[in-house]
Amino acid sequence: MSSKRILVTGGGGYVGSRLIRSLLGRGDKTVILDLMLFGEDHLADLIQNPNVKIIRGDIRNDVLLKKALKDVDMVVHLAGLSNDPQCELDPRQSWQVNLEAPILLAELAREAGVGRFIYACSTSVYGKFDTGEATEDTPVKPLSLYAELKVAVESVILKRNREHFDVVSLRPATLCGYSPRMRFDLALNTFAKQAWFDGEITVHGGSQMRPCLTVDNMVHAYECVLDADSKDVAGCVYNVTQDNYTVMELAYLARDTVRPEARIRVTDHVDPRSYRVNSSRIREKLGFEPKQTLTEALLELRKVFESGEITDPDAPIYRNVALMKEITTEQG
Ligand SMILES: NC(=O)c1ccc[n+]([C@@H]2O[C@H](COP(=O)([O-])OP(=O)(O)OC[C@H]3O[C@@H](n4cnc5c(N)ncnc54)[C@H](O)[C@@H]3O)[C@@H](O)[C@H]2O)c1
Repeated sequence: MSSKRILVTGGGGYVGSRLIRSLLGRGDKTVILDLMLFGEDHLADLIQNPNVKIIRGDIRNDVLLKKALKDVDMVVHLAGLSNDPQCELDPRQSWQVNLEAPILLAELAREAGVGRFIYACSTSVYGKFDTGEATEDTPVKPLSLYAELKVAVESVILKRNREHFDVVSLRPATLCGYSPRMRFDLALNTFAKQAWFDGEITVHGGSQMRPCLTVDNMVHAYECVLDADSKDVAGCVYNVTQDNYTVMELAYLARDTVRPEARIRVTDHVDPRSYRVNSSRIREKLGFEPKQTLTEALLELRKVFESGEITDPDAPIYRNVALMKEITTEQG
């Protein structure tokens, strides 16, 4: 596989900081464009790397976008507000960051001669679906602004798919597992953190279905799409998941793997989102196979907890919406 120059927007984030390292390991050259909302200590080892160019800034800035796209072969677009509560904080800003900016970026990428544009959508576009597993052909039913914007961007950019400009949208399940830029606002990671540090897992409801995937497997999925033949990805949408669980099953899995003596407390606050997702298409067309089990990802997390690397697991930096609120308060 010949090496490529890949722009990863949001390369400093939870997924991005693992993806960048994996791409470098394969011999690719990378460009990171990121506002670094969550700091950049976790990127310290990359700063002197000649195969990484880091551009700090906002994806709403078209001058920066053009600079970041220079001589790039492919784009993986991850930057933005990456969950429901973050998007609800300031809908106007969410609209700009999660809708206008990605559409502009795709347009500028095409003009710059980029060959492939990979968009991080989400399985949350299925909202509530309780009659079997949602496939890519299942009508979407977004239940939040975050999911609505994901749907809107996907539909606009797929129309920009052209010869020599492949547009691909991946719909990842809820991710879990360790990243140098850690998130404890994702279901299984939250449960793992609560089990280890608090000795008690809190489950809101529990019967909702949630597809899950390790961040390691997600990195592998992006690489499958980066390496695929154009005919297999151009203009395509792919679900990316490994297993469907109830939220309660995830709580048990986290408890049993991370700290079996932890208690599980159930509250009756029920999240309306509930869906099972089918990912046969990416397995059959691109040969994607998850390499890591959820249990292995949890064991990796437990090792990190044991090492003492995470000293303040409740710090806002690990929970996107908490950090955004802190930033807004400081600016206000
Ligand atoms: N993590 C998941 O479970 C999951 C599941 C499905 C889809 N996704 C999608 O994958 C993508 C990456 O998710 P993640 O978990 O790495 O999120 P993350 O919040 O850890 O990373 C997002 C990155 O985008 C950057 N960013 C935010 N606003 C920006 C702006 N205006 N300009 C430039 N950079 C900006 C942040 O600094 C951060 O580094 C997101 O688009 C998310 O919606 C994630």
